[in-house]
Amino acid sequence: MTTTTQYYVASSVDGFIADREGKLDWLMQFGFEEFTAGYEAFLAEVAVVVMGAETYEFVRAEGHAWAYPEQTAWVLTRRDLPRMEGGHIRFAQGDVRDLHAEWVEAAAGRNIWIVGGGQVAAQVADAGLLDEIVLTTMPVVLGAGTPLLPVGTATGALEVSGTEVLPSGAIASRYRITR
Ligand SMILES: NC(=O)c1ccc[n+]([C@@H]2O[C@H](COP(=O)([O-])OP(=O)(O)OC[C@H]3O[C@@H](n4cnc5c(N)ncnc54)[C@H](OP(=O)(O)O)[C@@H]3O)[C@@H](O)[C@H]2O)c1
Repeated sequence: MTTTTQYYVASSVDGFIADREGKLDWLMQFGFEEFTAGYEAFLAEVAVVVMGAETYEFVRAEGHAWAYPEQTAWVLTRRDLPRMEGGHIRFAQGDVRDLHAEWVEAAAGRNIWIVGGGQVAAQVADAGLLDEIVLTTMPVVLGAGTPLLPVGTATGALEVSGTEVLPSGAIASRYRITR
């Protein structure tokens, strides 16, 4: 099996993953099933999850249990953050090219999920290491917020597959990044 590095994420129509206050109420209003098409099958193939400090702090502030007990998690931060219980969490910092090599080794042929946010995913994309964006576009416009993928260099045309329209009008698609 080959490891695929995937950014599985939900955004607004205008390309934001959190609103201008860093909140996700605009997403949650649709219900979990509406922005997690194929989630169980997707997660079953994931061995490594990666997130930035802002996403980790959001998850921690929400007070939920750690959602990835089976995976090895890398949290990218330059801060000394408290470790959440119930996971295999490593804190790391530095160049994502070096870190990605560690993720691939840990994944051992299964997949790497870049949970987010956009800042971390963009570093991986700019390094040419992002293979797929698994995106659910929610039928809502936010006007401002946290960008989905603020790359420094535009990608080429993406290969789109598996488009599905969910009952709310959310559109789930896979975008393959070709190099
Ligand atoms: N809609 C969705 O599906 C979805 C998915 C994921 C996240 N989100 C939301 O997106 C928002 C956060 O996204 P974001 O793009 O603002 O931030 P982020 O990518 O989660 O975190 C960025 C932070 O991570 C640390 N970091 C990033 N790269 C690093 C590196 N190479 N080495 C060391 N530290 C590194 C830095 O923090 P420090 O230097 O301060 O440590 C940086 O400020 C949250 O509101 C979250 O809820 C939404």
